[in-house]
Amino acid sequence: MRVGIVGLGTASTDIVPEILRHPQLDLAVGCDIRAEARTQFTHRYGVPAFETVEELVSGKSVDAVYVASPNRFHCEHAVIAASYGKELIVEKPLALTLAECDEMVAAAAANGVRLLAGHTHSFDAPIQAMEDLIADGVIGEVYMVNNWYYTDWLFRGRLADELDVGLGGGVVFRQAPHSVDIVRVLAAARPVSVRAVTSSVDTAHPTHGGFVALLTFDSGAVGNIVFSGYAHFDSSELTFGIGENGYPRSPDTHLAARRRISALGSADAEAQYKNSMRFGGDQAGQWLKSGDRDPSSQKHPCYGLTVVSGTRGDLRQTPDGIFRYGSGEWLEVPVARAPLERAAELDCLYNAWKDDTDLPSHDGRWAKGTLEVCLAIIESGRTGREVSLHHQLLPRTAAAAGAGQRR
Ligand SMILES: NC(=O)c1ccc[n+]([C@@H]2O[C@H](COP(=O)([O-])OP(=O)(O)OC[C@H]3O[C@@H](n4cnc5c(N)ncnc54)[C@H](O)[C@@H]3O)[C@@H](O)[C@H]2O)c1
Repeated sequence: MRVGIVGLGTASTDIVPEILRHPQLDLAVGCDIRAEARTQFTHRYGVPAFETVEELVSGKSVDAVYVASPNRFHCEHAVIAASYGKELIVEKPLALTLAECDEMVAAAAANGVRLLAGHTHSFDAPIQAMEDLIADGVIGEVYMVNNWYYTDWLFRGRLADELDVGLGGGVVFRQAPHSVDIVRVLAAARPVSVRAVTSSVDTAHPTHGGFVALLTFDSGAVGNIVFSGYAHFDSSELTFGIGENGYPRSPDTHLAARRRISALGSADAEAQYKNSMRFGGDQAGQWLKSGDRDPSSQKHPCYGLTVVSGTRGDLRQTPDGIFRYGSGEWLEVPVARAPLERAAELDCLYNAWKDDTDLPSHDGRWAKGTLEVCLAIIESGRTGREVSLHHQLLPRTAAAAGAGQRR
């Protein structure tokens, strides 16, 4: 499958190596409005890079398009690519509004292409393995799912646009899709309401920097999400020192991030620093690369601490799998390491395309449900009210088990 990528920013420096590593994928073409990114991309990979999505898709050299442009362009770029018959992976969040999600789903359907919502940490192998264990009934009925993540999102170098909630910035649009997807997958039910509080407590980064959200589910289960992007406490202390890319996190990661950003001293200098980590920048690929990067030390990614509680036990992630706390025994269930993170989503689209089948999970309608929860977090944070949800689906295994009918 020949893959083109739109948006040669920081995310692309993680996506492109996975496309290159995948035995059945060819990196065919790139697209970015920045000339320096296009030049570097072509120089490094020997494939063309265009300024517009139309130019990328109008040739015959690409089967699928990975949309990794800023959030506010996801809908426009995906609809153009679909209209040329290209399979789609779109970075999270799928879009900024539910109407945009509908437009993307309709464009994919009208053109007979698949629309995969990527990448969220619900693709991580331990999360998928927990979903399977839950479906097998090993912890009974799920009544509570917690995801707690304290990280340095606001202090990794941010552009003004990334802080503007109206443009899809702030941690609810940019990070909540990960935790919301994890909680939706593991609750094995449909969420029906959200009550949330958002926090904006850094004057140099005036945006949503943290939130707490309580989700209720139609099964009676509850989901609790705690997110802080302010780089104080580091929740990898609670996940065996392992961070979201699976590598050990140095204990001084947050102090170093805060020192680096405060030494830059201005929003412009911070924007330049962020730019240096995009394609074509002198630190391209260094995003999230703190601490030990020896491949032999890589474990499963830990997007914060995730604990699932059922009537017969609890599950949590370990570096190599899942710990199962039962009534009569406690044991670690190992989880195979491959394919990891983005490789899993690329596999997911590739296999569906090769076999000409539907996506097994994470399609556009699922991603619309995740966006609906994110928008409800923002609305509840603004109004102080509980928000009802109306566009929710069951996760893969619960749907397959016909759990919807039983409930
Ligand atoms: N799943 C993850 O773990 C993860 C991590 C980081 C970012 N992301 C997502 O990836 C997307 C990009 O984030 P990022 O941090 O790489 O942002 P970024 O700003 O570093 O990169 C965006 C790139 O798109 C380019 N661009 C802007 N407008 C464009 C247009 N109209 N046409 C073509 N190119 C255009 C920019 O020049 C830039 O190179 C966002 O949706 C973000 O939420 C996901």
